[in-house]
Amino acid sequence: MCGIIGITGREDAVEGIIRGLTRLEYRGYDSAGVVTNNGRDLRTIKRAGKLEVLRRALDEQPLAASTGIGHTRWATHGEPNDRNAHPHVDPSGRVAVVHNGIIENYQLLKAGLGDARFASDTDSEVAAHLAARELAALDEPDLLTAVRRVVSQLEGAYSLCFVALDEPDTIVVAKHEAPLIVAHADGVGYCASDVAALIEHTRQVAALLDGQIARITPEGFEVVDVDGAPVEPHRYTVDWDLDAAEKQGYDHFMLKEIHEQPQAVADTLLDRLNAPPGGGVPRLHLDELRLDEGELRRIDKVFILACGTSLHAGMVGKLAIEHWAGIPVDVEVASEFRYRDPIVDPHTLVIAISQSGETIDTIAAASHARDQRAPVISLVNVVGSTLARQADGVLYTHAGPEVAVASTKAFTTQIVGCLLLGLYLAQVRGRMYATEVSDILARLGQVPAALEQVLDLDGEVRELAERYHDSPYTMFIGRHAGLPIAMEGALKLKEISYLHAEAFPAGEMKHGPIALIEPGSLVVALAPAGHVFTKMVSNIQEVKARGAAVLAIGSQGSVVALKEHADHVLTLPEPPHELAGPVLSVVPLQLFSYHVATRRGEDVDQPRNLAKTVTVE
Ligand code: M6R
Repeated sequence: MCGIIGITGREDAVEGIIRGLTRLEYRGYDSAGVVTNNGRDLRTIKRAGKLEVLRRALDEQPLAASTGIGHTRWATHGEPNDRNAHPHVDPSGRVAVVHNGIIENYQLLKAGLGDARFASDTDSEVAAHLAARELAALDEPDLLTAVRRVVSQLEGAYSLCFVALDEPDTIVVAKHEAPLIVAHADGVGYCASDVAALIEHTRQVAALLDGQIARITPEGFEVVDVDGAPVEPHRYTVDWDLDAAEKQGYDHFMLKEIHEQPQAVADTLLDRLNAPPGGGVPRLHLDELRLDEGELRRIDKVFILACGTSLHAGMVGKLAIEHWAGIPVDVEVASEFRYRDPIVDPHTLVIAISQSGETIDTIAAASHARDQRAPVISLVNVVGSTLARQADGVLYTHAGPEVAVASTKAFTTQIVGCLLLGLYLAQVRGRMYATEVSDILARLGQVPAALEQVLDLDGEVRELAERYHDSPYTMFIGRHAGLPIAMEGALKLKEISYLHAEAFPAGEMKHGPIALIEPGSLVVALAPAGHVFTKMVSNIQEVKARGAAVLAIGSQGSVVALKEHADHVLTLPEPPHELAGPVLSVVPLQLFSYHVATRRGEDVDQPRNLAKTVTVE
């Protein structure tokens, strides 16, 4: 989604801004722009399209200043064109703003500005007008005070970044429900919507909390609340370096991230056992837990809340928690949760899953549950993200930065995280002995090596992608732990290749979807060995009988039977535990989507219309 970077105190701020915006490209955007403040005027260049278009415009018309802000926009209000691209400047040319999020009451605010002329169709521009008006009303120019007064009028979600002509060395930022990071290093002040934009300058950063406003100068930054009282942001050290955010020889981030899965899973499993004080069998622990175990013992229901790929990981989590901990689990699309009447009380545990920890739908659903005093555990990848900070307990996936919009290594580590949570709840509630938990953990330790074997199937998968890259409709079917993987396979294929794909519980086919099958239809069937395998074979026969071409994802224990019925079989190693099977079986589907999309010439890392972090509802 939209990206922000601001720099003050650097000789060529624009060069740094463009580099920062390049690192934010992965978030997804449709236009980009820059404003500089040289104390004489605010100069803006903004263009629809990719950063390359903005770069060319800047080559023709260079901007020089030591203070500036840049933005990549993912359109919400107003079509993606030059006019609606950020930054927006007020009509007097004294204040410029970039904005992530949505200002919900912008029409009311615009009406309150009388006959002011607006240059764009956006909700964001009103913030520049308001800041200019507040500045003009002050005896002494003070952007920080003006912004405090602006944000007290806003409704919605925002991270805002302002510059004002009268304060050429100052950037002021404000945060409410959209991420914003500030930092200072070597005489330069920075702000950004995402640490990726700052990592080449510093790893010491501060995440603003909701309601915080910061003034950034080349000397440092100060953070206040809306009343002007000093407050502390969340300071932390980023635990990954620049290398992790580079392609390192791969053609695409997605392919690199697919290949990083063995390491990511190993890192997520690492150091999960703690010896209890005084000795005894080591116990599984969460990273940060602000809940006591007694509270977890009283839980009688679990909600798993997430979106997209994270939701599919949550579906595996349900199987694990019900199987090991014996607690009923509902998995719910986060964006639906707070608009019905979910039965939530202090005995309901909410598990919120998110790679970014900044997905507004998931954050809002989790806080709706917290309002009803339900404890919340978050399973997130980005350390220090909003969801991680707001939850009562955190389990981090250690996937490292995931840049491609299509989530891959975050997904497999989320599944591992869900398995850990299932074991943790079983341990806390006395459903499993510590030795049983550590035995399963030891088996999960074999997953990274099995993943390496699965990645060796890449050549076979590429051939299949070559054969089916034009297939207009692909159906994915599965049962039990295969169903979330069927759903994830369909999501991957549609998001990066733009081909129609759908997933169904294999047993549901005969209740309707099988009508879609015609000779040559491609059906991908998740059919590893396990307790639902024979049922899957029947479902494969049903679609085969109606002329479908079947690609089966099998395992060593199921391959012989599958070869009798399927047109193609990809054989995976047997997983060390049936519930770890999805971590392996999703990989050929990730590779299939990747090869189909590249064969079709699509932009794999930044698919159309999509954003990596979805910070609007
Ligand atoms: O950061 P999150 O895990 O909360 O993101 C949720 C979804 O937006 C995300 O998984 C999305 O579905 C991916 N693009 C799928 O590849």
